[in-house]
Amino acid sequence: MKILSIDTSCDDTSISIVSTPKKGCFTILSNIVSSQEKLHQEYGGVYPSLAKREHQKNLVPVLQKALKGAKLLSEVRGVKGAKLLLKFKKLSEILEREPELYKKLEKFLKKYKKPNIDAIAVTVGPGLEPCLWVGINFARALEHYWGIPVIQINHIEGHVLINFLNNDVKLPAIALIVSGGHTQIILVKKIGKYEIIGETRDDAAGECFDKTARILGLPYPGGPEIARMASDSNKTSTQVITMPRPMLHTKDYDLSFSGLKTAVLYDFKKRTKKQKGSKAYKIAMAKEIQQSIIDVLIKKTLKATRDHGAKTVILGGGVSANKELKRQFKKNIKKQLPKVQFLAPIPKLSTDNAVMIAITALLNKNNKKGVKAIKAQGNLRI
Ligand code: KG4
Ligand code: ZN
Repeated sequence: MKILSIDTSCDDTSISIVSTPKKGCFTILSNIVSSQEKLHQEYGGVYPSLAKREHQKNLVPVLQKALKGAKLLSEVRGVKGAKLLLKFKKLSEILEREPELYKKLEKFLKKYKKPNIDAIAVTVGPGLEPCLWVGINFARALEHYWGIPVIQINHIEGHVLINFLNNDVKLPAIALIVSGGHTQIILVKKIGKYEIIGETRDDAAGECFDKTARILGLPYPGGPEIARMASDSNKTSTQVITMPRPMLHTKDYDLSFSGLKTAVLYDFKKRTKKQKGSKAYKIAMAKEIQQSIIDVLIKKTLKATRDHGAKTVILGGGVSANKELKRQFKKNIKKQLPKVQFLAPIPKLSTDNAVMIAITALLNKNNKKGVKAIKAQGNLRI
């Protein structure tokens, strides 16, 4: 089984091709991510209509690279005819709202042969709806032209199931999904059976990194910037700042990050110009922001693990690329729950990627196939 997967849920255009040579074993044949990070830096966050336009521009070149990487790209030799004309007419209808994408895709499809793949997996939510739609319509266009079925995938499930990539995951598991848009603690009973047992009541953890970084004058995305600054701390700063740990001691598994953001803003405002411009202040603050987020994430995740007798802790989402977060999770699990398995993806597979969409398609037996009901669902829940 070979899957071509597409994710355009936020600001990355990603396409990958994954195969299963045998059951439970996956081979990543290609994984292409075209990042729009630099473009959105100016706005200090993702600008949806700009992201949508970029996906339109990037999808065909990314597809070409992904197929080439998987050795599935070969040129057609002169097929023409009325049937083809009809196919392109329907294609232009599917991509009615993405004319730039249609033009590029038409050229591509006329040049290259149908690849040897079994299904096309595409993210239908959650995410930014205008962005999701571009990916969905692209998948539908390919489905129509190549006659390959589309499978609808939940992006959050992708962040969870990427940990099953060549790992024997003991269930039940507790998954902490931390990204720019989501912070959820999910009980994974089995593949396809999930329960959100805790989540943020306001900002997501990644959003908190991004917004506090912005207060400190650091570029978007803020998470990696804060992490870099914080890791500098031993060398240059002796300053110590204390920020709150919202909801650390509540009995539920919910989280909250907007109070931390506000506390950072107040502290920043009360400092003199010289103080807040200094590297020592930024380093000390970055270290404290990161530690505050780490403390609440670890406390709530481990509490959920203990209470539910989970055998594994899984991390996923952009924030789980944070080295210090992973180091402290590992240390605490080893000390407090030594029998529990700890899994986190490599950084490239923590942030948005299409491999996780393919893995989800390959692992799930209850896939929703077919195009009829396919639509973008910005607030889709796992
Ligand atoms: O999963 P993701 O790539 O996209 C969303 O679905 O949101 O996550 C992006 C988020 C951003 O908020 C970014 O600042 C954060 O992940 N992030 C990090 C790190 N790398 C990315 N946060 C903390 N430390 C990192 N190393
Ligand atoms: Zn994500």
